[in-house]
Amino acid sequence: MSDSADWKFETKQVHSGARPDPVTNARATPIYQTTSYVFNSAEHAQNLFALAEFGNIYTRIQNPTQAVVEERVAALEGGTGALLLASGQSASTFAVLNIAQAGDHIVSSSSIYGGTYNLFKYTLAKLGIETTFVEDQDDAAEWARAVRPNTKLFFAETIGNPKINVLDIALVAEVAHTNGVPLIVDNTIATPYLIRPFEHGADIIVHSATKFLGGHGTVIGGVIVDGGLFEWTANVEKFPGLTEPDPSYHGASYTAAVGDGLAYIIKARVQLLRDLGSAIAPASAWQLIQGIETLSLRIERHVSNTQTIAEFLENHPDIASVNYAGLPSSPWYATANTYAPLGVGAVLSFELKGGVDAGRALVDNLTLFSHLANIGDVRSLVIHPASTTHAQLTPEQQLTAGVTPGLVRLSVGIENVADLQADLEAGLAAARAVVQASRANA
Ligand SMILES: Cc1ncc(COP(=O)(O)O)c(C=O)c1O
Repeated sequence: MSDSADWKFETKQVHSGARPDPVTNARATPIYQTTSYVFNSAEHAQNLFALAEFGNIYTRIQNPTQAVVEERVAALEGGTGALLLASGQSASTFAVLNIAQAGDHIVSSSSIYGGTYNLFKYTLAKLGIETTFVEDQDDAAEWARAVRPNTKLFFAETIGNPKINVLDIALVAEVAHTNGVPLIVDNTIATPYLIRPFEHGADIIVHSATKFLGGHGTVIGGVIVDGGLFEWTANVEKFPGLTEPDPSYHGASYTAAVGDGLAYIIKARVQLLRDLGSAIAPASAWQLIQGIETLSLRIERHVSNTQTIAEFLENHPDIASVNYAGLPSSPWYATANTYAPLGVGAVLSFELKGGVDAGRALVDNLTLFSHLANIGDVRSLVIHPASTTHAQLTPEQQLTAGVTPGLVRLSVGIENVADLQADLEAGLAAARAVVQASRANA
């Protein structure tokens, strides 16, 4: 059986990239728990190292279990190839370092995960890569104004966390392409089931596979997917690392060796992964396979539960506002209907009328919602971003990322929604009592 591009999403998530093991006939993908692979001959070894032939050399660079995840996510996103890494953070780091170096500049939305913001603002700055943050990612003119001669890429999240703003991918991709640079998007919250960014003009996708792809809160991983459509060779002066000979690879040019469609993702593997070593363990890759096989089923349930919870919260007397693009009150409701007609994912945030004190009391008084720093688990999760995930940002930086002091974020799981609603109802009542008691004592 070979993969078919005509398979529907639900078929691809179960089959793409995997075949029965040719030696044992095992049906499920085995965990290839090996560091290295025997060469067939001296010539075979030489060809593999010269990129004249593709094949397994060493698990830091590739592994058959890892390859199944890569082929499957590439198929689900509609890309030419993918690279699975140890975490979402390593995926974002590699995605930038693959085409930007000291002296270069990138443009990013400011409405991104706090860890990515820190990576761009501080760690990449130490490596000599400067980032301009766009405050309003819906404003094409602001993106255009940020471009400099040394700009190498644009970066944004398809669904931002915790504002739950939906990116107008085509709008930002057009500004990027007019300026000869690719648009890289983080598609973690949407997953390819809800948004397929390549269909709208994005060039590279990154994921924290830790979240909905893995789906069970058990494994850390990250993926980069190449859309294969960006013409690096049409912008040779900007991307010499892809087009010029690489002295660390026998003078090979990636675009000459594998073409525009694969140059980016091959270079990320054979150069950056070889040198930086952020490899995923085969057992973690295997766990990701288990998660991806049920992606659409979980996301359908996540989305319907989240829509119910969002409507419940919006109508609750203790809630000041809810951020969820599935609600008509969201400024991104229309954009969501265009890009994510099946739903806008399972993360939402809201502000309590009782402010910070009520938010903290709510987090302490929920039972089914676990208080922890993650999203995309089958279990429901809750957090107070200002004191946790975004605590390393200044109050001003927090506000541009959409984090107000009293904001509470939920990642809604796949439990029975009536139980989730009852838990929130009880937690809100407890939070109200705490706030009333503290006011009475004041
Ligand atoms: C949207 C988004 N991107 C990237 C990351 C980083 O992923 P990881 O924790 O797998 O390194 C996260 C983690 O919370 C995230 O929420």
